[in-house]
This record gives sequence, structure tokens and C-alpha cells, in this order.
Amino acid sequence: MHPTQRLLNDRRNEVLSEVQQRTLASLETALVDRLATMGEDASGLYSYYARKLRRGTLLSECDLSVLAALRERVGQFRRVWEIGSGVGQLTAMLALDGHEVIAFDRDTGRYAAMTENLDILERHDPAARGRISTRFGSFPAVLDEKDDIRADAVLVLGCSFTASKMEYRAFEDAVARFALGLMDFPRLFTPATNGEEWRQRARDFAERYRVAVVPIANYRIPELGKEGELFVVAG
Ligand SMILES: C[S@@+](CC[C@H](N)C(=O)[O-])C[C@H]1O[C@@H](n2cnc3c(N)ncnc32)[C@H](O)[C@@H]1O
Repeated sequence: MHPTQRLLNDRRNEVLSEVQQRTLASLETALVDRLATMGEDASGLYSYYARKLRRGTLLSECDLSVLAALRERVGQFRRVWEIGSGVGQLTAMLALDGHEVIAFDRDTGRYAAMTENLDILERHDPAARGRISTRFGSFPAVLDEKDDIRADAVLVLGCSFTASKMEYRAFEDAVARFALGLMDFPRLFTPATNGEEWRQRARDFAERYRVAVVPIANYRIPELGKEGELFVVAG
């Protein structure tokens, strides 16, 4: 086994409960089948997830740090909004930890894969499935004006996409309205090439929205040969 893979496995055993480990194994098996049956494009597992499944890194080091960080912060937020939840691997783990989660993605194939994965979660723990609601759509448009997010947490992980400066600003403005954020600045909008660049992004965000932005964990992305850093944002 590759040393990076061994480190990830150790961290998983440390952070995940038994039911989380069993559920994750079922999700991985189902996604591998989905990929084999439907192919990369139709399955929604193209590039990012196909690589993760090949490397056994469906639940990443970054995801594990998010789970650990939210466990430490119970009581500091009400619900967790997961922007770009993809196939819902972290969504399922969060709900098994007892969090109320609102998961959304704007990619049809990935949203369909997440829906199937939540059916699998239902078989392992119906109560955990009941703690998740899903929306199909793009953040921040997916927020309804009736949504009161002032006591909620938001996850901004792997949200790289191309848009205009105005759209990037609207995205960040909406993120800054949450009580707590876990943000992966290295992969926000465009992948950053080094730590100085992503730390500058974090400082800019802190200054613009007058919030505290603190690094809490480093992570590796072995399938891309990259590294990054997770930050907590609080008003
Ligand atoms: C690289 S994947 C990361 C998925 C997951 N968050 C993770 O870290 O494993 C990015 C996902 O975010 C979705 N996404 C990107 N920007 C989004 C937005 N503004 N609103 C909703 N989904 C978005 C994409 O469709 C894609 O499924």
C-alpha cells in the first residue's frame, strides 16, 4: 500500500465510527458499480470522482478534517449547508454524526449519484437519512430568501468553477452571512498554486468581511499530487 494511502486509512479509522466506516464502504462499492455500468460522463463521476475511486480516496483527508472540526464545534451552529456536495460522501458522514445537513449541487449526474447514495445511507441508518435535505441548484441562487442562515454553518470545499468577478463576489458575500464556515481557500474558484497564494485569499476574505479566518488543518490530495489547507471562518 502507498504510504499516503496508509496515512489516509489511519486517519479514517481515527475519525470515523463503525457505522460510518460500513456506510462509506457501501457507498464506494455502489459508485464503482455505477461507474462501470454507466461510464464516466453519464454516471456524473467524470475526472474528479473517477480518480478518487481508483485511488480509494472517496472520503478525503479534507473531508475527515471537516468532520473532526464540526464535532468540536457542536453548539456553535444549527445546520450545515454543503455547497457542491458532489456524490454526497461527506453529507452522509455528517448526518451519521448527528448534524442536520442541506446538501446541494448543480451537476445533474452528481446529484443523481448523491440521491442513490442517500438511499444506501437510509438502509444503514434511516434517522441519519432523515437529517438530510437536498436541493438541486447553484449557490447562492439556491438560497431562498426565507432561509435563515445566520445560525448555520457552511462548507466550501473543492468549489473550483469559472464565473464572472461579480458572480464570485455574490458567492463570497453569501458565504460570509453564515455563522461559521469551513473553507478550502486553495480550491476556491481557481486552484491556487502555493500556500502564500491561498493564505492571501484567506486574509483578503477576513479583511473584506471583517471575520476571523484561522487555518485548522493541512490536507493532501494524493490523486492529484497536491496539498492544501482548511480554514475556519467565524464572525
Ligand atoms: C470538485 S467537486 C467537489 C465536491 C465535494 N465538495 C468534495 O470536496 O469532494 C465540486 C462540486 O461542486 C459543484 N459546484 C461548484 N460550484 C457550485 C455552486 N456554485 N453551486 C453548487 N454546486 C457547485 C460541482 O458541480 C461539483 O460537483
